[in-house]
Amino acid sequence: MSKIIIETKVIKINDLYNDSIEYACNILRKGGLVAFPTETVYGLGALALNPDAVRRIFEVKGRPQDNPLIVHLSCLEQLESVAYLEPRYLNIIKKLTPGPVTFVLKKKKNIPLVVTAGLDTVGVRIPAHPVAQRLSQCAGPIAAPSANLSGRPSPTDAKSVIEDLYGRVECIIDAGESAFGIESTIIDLTKEKPLVLRPGPVTIEELNEIFGEFGGVEYYVPKSNEKPLAPGMKYRHYAPEKNLSLVEKDKISDYANKDVLILCTRETYEKYLKGAKNVHIIGEFGKPYTIAQNLYKSLRFVDKSSYPEAVIEKLPEEGIFFSIMNRIKKAVSKQ
Ligand code: TXA
Ligand code: MG
Repeated sequence: MSKIIIETKVIKINDLYNDSIEYACNILRKGGLVAFPTETVYGLGALALNPDAVRRIFEVKGRPQDNPLIVHLSCLEQLESVAYLEPRYLNIIKKLTPGPVTFVLKKKKNIPLVVTAGLDTVGVRIPAHPVAQRLSQCAGPIAAPSANLSGRPSPTDAKSVIEDLYGRVECIIDAGESAFGIESTIIDLTKEKPLVLRPGPVTIEELNEIFGEFGGVEYYVPKSNEKPLAPGMKYRHYAPEKNLSLVEKDKISDYANKDVLILCTRETYEKYLKGAKNVHIIGEFGKPYTIAQNLYKSLRFVDKSSYPEAVIEKLPEEGIFFSIMNRIKKAVSKQ
């Protein structure tokens, strides 16, 4: 891992029209790196059309070279400057943007190959977060992966970004907690049928409705001998350093007051663990988006706690829970 070498400016932002946006844009224009908020997780941005700046993202994160980056844009016109948009999908893309969705489209020539890791497609996203919007509007298309060191849980607040990237990037913009807390849903629109490569805040059920006229979406699961369509899928993700295992709700009381940290929903705590000290609440079962919002902070907490290992409650696999379980399973399997 590279040494701490540069000065990092942390900017707290609550006014979009103040000098801070201009300050961050200037860093980007000079080829620097800016960590910024989006409504999913924080991103680590460089100007997408500057290959040297983009290369630094890979270095700073310790990211494998074959894992492509998502390009963040402020509007559809900007999106069309970097990717080909098939007219048949235009209305749907309008419905889903701005928001927590990434589309894989055929790339235009101006996008450097380092951004797409050599692929002829590019992941594009128009985030709804006003800071992300303003940055790409003022500075141009921004290539950005999540703003964590490779393999770690994605950051959902500036504190988590600071833990991973302080001293490695020029600027970190702090705009509080991310609203969704898990990364965007990725839909590949370059195939016969829309393929969901990564489940996220917009659920498969919602997408099946939205893509109704195309017969819905397919959820992509790579075959064991196949190179996955989203190269990032093959890498270790989200896992704490300590051992973490998945436990069925009705077995969770076996761990009460043991030397194990229990990550569970408030409802499970009330029903099975009331009074136990070794519990960390990850959100409310009845409000599953609160679990998405807290998940990565909870996974980071595993390594900060004094417990040598942790267990996490198994959740059902439908709706937004499906996306949450997708991340939990990766964290548990250490893959
Ligand atoms: O919500 C998000 O998507 C956040 C925020 C910052 O926008 N970004 C994010 O980026 O999660 P990252 O790099 O952590 O994950 C991007 C995923 C990787 O699995 C990568 O392989 C996939 O998107 N990806 C990017 N471009 C692709 C392409 N052209 N084809 C297939 N998969 C692609
Ligand atoms: Mg990531």
